[in-house]
Amino acid sequence: MRMIKPICLFMLSAVLVHSFSAYAESVGGTAPKLDSLKDLMQELNEIGGGDKGTQSLLTRNTDPDSVARGAKLYSANCVQCHGEGGIGAPNWHRRDASGNYPPPPLNGSAHTWHHPKAQLLEMIRNGGVVMPAFSSQLDDTEIEDIIHWFQSLWPDELYQAWARQNEAYNRNVD
Ligand code: HEC
Repeated sequence: MRMIKPICLFMLSAVLVHSFSAYAESVGGTAPKLDSLKDLMQELNEIGGGDKGTQSLLTRNTDPDSVARGAKLYSANCVQCHGEGGIGAPNWHRRDASGNYPPPPLNGSAHTWHHPKAQLLEMIRNGGVVMPAFSSQLDDTEIEDIIHWFQSLWPDELYQAWARQNEAYNRNVD
């Protein structure tokens, strides 16, 4: 049971955000607004009973060396698809002609902050449908440097919401 809650919350938020962007597309073709996503995440935290006990763990990783290494590694390996500053492809939430999703933003304006660190590492190590695997080019420290870099672009509240979910996920998979 203990594992179920955070996983459900992640899935629920993914589903809600998905219907949200479908709705946004139907009314005006715009991506979901950050404010609404933040509200949504806050609501989900409340549904989950909040996690007051972990407040002290919510320190952003601001190791400037890691972030600087990550920025360089991002330019060498990821920028050609995910764009300068991690802005993603313009129509990232719509399938292209071949039925695949274009590279999403990593800068906090899309779903990336719904994934715990373990899932982000997995995705970058093993790749996705279109995205190549990087496990033969980048070691885990380098991948974490890149994650720290794109997380440095996220607004504080978004990062805090991510950190709470990440803590809950880690507590339950241990
Ligand atoms: C060839 C283009 C390409 C390259 C290069 C690439 N990606 Fe991706 N990435 C994608 C696509 C497309 C997706 C969506 C999933 C899929 O279809 O593979 C994605 C998904 C992701 C996701 C999941 C985002 C989410 O919100 O779910 C992360 C994280 C990510 N990429 C990080 C990286 C990092 C870090 C690098 C560089 C080390 C990188 N990508 C290089 C195309 C690319």
